[in-house]
Amino acid sequence: MRMVDIIAKKRDGKELTAEEIQFFIQGYTNGDIPDYQASALAMAIFFQDMNGRERADLTMAMVHSGETIDLSAIDGIKVDKHSTGGVGDTTTLVLAPLVAALDIPVAKMSGRGLGHTGGTIDKLEAIEGFHVEISKEEFVKLVNEHKIAVIGQSGNLTPADKKLYALRDVTGTVNSIPLIASSIMSKKIAAGSDAIVLDVKTGAGAFMKTVEEAKELAQAMVSIGNSVGRKTMAVISDMSQPLGYAIGNALEVREAIDTLQGKGPADLEELCLALGSQMVYLAGKATSLEEAEEKLREVMRSGKALDKFKEFIRNQGGNEQVVDRPELLPQAAYQIEVPADQDGVVAAITADEIGTAAMKLGAGRATKESDIDLAVGLMLNKKIGDTVRKGESLVTIHANREEVDEVIRMIREHIQIADHAVAPQLVYDVVTG
Ligand code: URA
Ligand code: CA
Repeated sequence: MRMVDIIAKKRDGKELTAEEIQFFIQGYTNGDIPDYQASALAMAIFFQDMNGRERADLTMAMVHSGETIDLSAIDGIKVDKHSTGGVGDTTTLVLAPLVAALDIPVAKMSGRGLGHTGGTIDKLEAIEGFHVEISKEEFVKLVNEHKIAVIGQSGNLTPADKKLYALRDVTGTVNSIPLIASSIMSKKIAAGSDAIVLDVKTGAGAFMKTVEEAKELAQAMVSIGNSVGRKTMAVISDMSQPLGYAIGNALEVREAIDTLQGKGPADLEELCLALGSQMVYLAGKATSLEEAEEKLREVMRSGKALDKFKEFIRNQGGNEQVVDRPELLPQAAYQIEVPADQDGVVAAITADEIGTAAMKLGAGRATKESDIDLAVGLMLNKKIGDTVRKGESLVTIHANREEVDEVIRMIREHIQIADHAVAPQLVYDVVTG
């Protein structure tokens, strides 16, 4: 087999065999196939697309390019959730205890990563004492006994994807449905869960700018999952503005605590219930999404979800008192209001730019080496569709330095006030496969 023939075949719009796809992925991972040939193939796929079978084969070839996680020692159906990435997305912190409260195993492997705020692990580490440096054995034991644990990512998962994603980034081939779908699904499948729930974001703060594109990506991922034996569902949700009010690590822990008690922001609660329902349904704990949602609401009402969060914190060395006394979380030294400069209705809160403003305060990492400040971030006081009077605060900045002029400028620039505006829909669609 020769790589040049595979490139030419895809260039001409023909279907690649499983063997050809495997030859490419194996050869590229071990360095036999050079970047220039891999980028030519990525560009051919970009223009010619792949059918469902090719997408599934590409996904599984990437899964088998490295280690995979075996969660078979954990009882029950393990359901994982993945978000395509948003700003102030507090859903994981809410969903993990919420779903575990229904005796569904939540075996979460998470990273720190780059971005506007930290990853799930950074957020949890805002809780004094909480740590994720536990052994694989301890992790399995915790999930079997308590239905919930989080461990730091380890192991060399999907090296083919790491290499190919970096190459796509510099060759104009990121924005391709078959390549994005196989990239995301390969990582989720290698991480070992039995079923997968996807939160595909759309809007200014997302990869997929339109609902149609987001739906196409969701459908592509759902069919890959289902065709390789992992039941998969998706929610298409809005990311034109940040989710909830909090953007920042400790601030989001606090928001998660409120949401677990049914006192959180309406949009965050709605999305957690939509995603959570799919998780409960796929775990076999309800026979319809409606029944699943009712069960989730019940554990919020009864306090079971909040108790599960305490149990989870305690098990991993954290101070569970933060749940009843969130003021024990790290607090920033300064709280600075950003007042509206006119009367009107909030018409836009551009998610990615507001996220970048939070990162500039130190809430997230710009590079792998950056330090993160768990206390800082932004609290939105208004969301799209809210009326506002001149002088009223749009955002409260939580900072550990006095000088935040640049952050204020960014916020002012990216929050628009108009005569009228309506709140965007939050959940646009669900894809159940
Ligand atoms: N996120 C991924 O993990 N892969 C892509 O290709 C795009 C977004
Ligand atoms: Ca939030």
